[in-house]
Amino acid sequence: AKKKFKQAEVNIGMVGHVDHGKTTLTKALTGIWTDTHSEELRRGITIKIGFADAEIRKCPSCGRYSTSPKCPYCGAETEFERRVSFIDAPGHEALMTTMLAGASLMDGAVLVIAANEPCPRPQTREHLMALQIVGNKNIIIAQNKIELVTKEQAMENYRQIKEFIKGTVAENAPIIPISALHGANIDVLIKAIEDFIPTPKRDPNKPPRMLVLRSFDVNKPGTPPEKLVGGVIGGSIIQGKLKVGDEIEIRPGVPYEEHGRIKYEPITTEIVSLQAGGRFVEEAYPGGLVGVGTKLDPFLTKGDLMAGNVVGKPGKLPPVWQDLRLEVHLLERVVGTEEELKVEPIKRKEILLLNVGTARTMGLVTGLSKDEIELKLQIPICAEPGERVAISRQVGSRWRLIGYGFIRE
Ligand code: GTP
Ligand code: MG
Ligand code: MG
Repeated sequence: AKKKFKQAEVNIGMVGHVDHGKTTLTKALTGIWTDTHSEELRRGITIKIGFADAEIRKCPSCGRYSTSPKCPYCGAETEFERRVSFIDAPGHEALMTTMLAGASLMDGAVLVIAANEPCPRPQTREHLMALQIVGNKNIIIAQNKIELVTKEQAMENYRQIKEFIKGTVAENAPIIPISALHGANIDVLIKAIEDFIPTPKRDPNKPPRMLVLRSFDVNKPGTPPEKLVGGVIGGSIIQGKLKVGDEIEIRPGVPYEEHGRIKYEPITTEIVSLQAGGRFVEEAYPGGLVGVGTKLDPFLTKGDLMAGNVVGKPGKLPPVWQDLRLEVHLLERVVGTEEELKVEPIKRKEILLLNVGTARTMGLVTGLSKDEIELKLQIPICAEPGERVAISRQVGSRWRLIGYGFIRE
């Protein structure tokens, strides 16, 4: 009998410093190379968030874990444990806000640290801080490229990692030595994933909410109007479920111009198709990348135009904020730079970069008090009061994480 397709039930992030092996590890776990865009291939770095799903399986005979139907260690038929989705984040320092958008969707994460470099490197620090800021506590450390170092070097690197994670959310994270390139010790890493990254308890009756990460126009150029397919939006459901035929609202929605100013208007549409883990489904749940086919004009969804929006039932979405009040917590040091600079206090009229869920926007600081700032946003955001906001500031030529805040009503 044909097995019923199960959607991924948990999102596991791949995070860490550039070139430490996140995409290679994603490939070792899923068989999928997530760097597919031409610029990624040309530059050899991850630029966009990549999703790749795998079935975690256990061998009833030798007890080891893998992602294949036949045990790679003893050849026995393996048993299905759960389907997971890996979110492969970029490690390049210029792509920190992309990583932050991905981090908002991660239920747990694998922090990949190359054993052949001193620890911590700047984005090792910055990505761990990002996980801490979005409130992610289920972290595993993969000590990668282990075959490139001697046993003594591996031990020294292990001590550096231990020292680095002391006092952080990853303090008790297991540290698993692996070689992503050679597929070594991957079974132990998978076991750690099973032990440390549980599937969150979900309430399917909560109103649905999806955070949009991408959007497309899937029509080939020159398609006649009567053959055009509506806009497609992609992201991850963070609560509830979506069904084909559902009426949905998208906030903050689409931009329009009024008296020379860009404003945003929420839009409603209908779900005409749903994809989860690359397959057409009737219903979609939290876990993995979900593609929503709509009746929207594809012009509105081309080239990721809808990224950062929130999707839900009409009238059931959080408010849209053009002006924001934040309870602010600044870091002591800028963690993403080679040299850890002191974080200066926020100034009036300063421009900050804010990440909320998958949305990113600039905010002009219009008001300041002891632990609070007021901002005027360039692009409004849809978010709950109390929601966390990651705050970045331009330091030199890059945006660096400097703190976080909570939205105040
Ligand atoms: P960004 O997404 O750009 O941050 O990089 P990444 O962390 O995804 O690294 P990627 O997987 O692209 O690997 C970077 C380089 O390291 C490639 O040349 C890989 O072949 C190499 N690499 C990854 N894992 C290993 C490993 O276990 N051993 C060795 N020797 N090389 C590795
Ligand atoms: Mg990569
Ligand atoms: Mg790379």
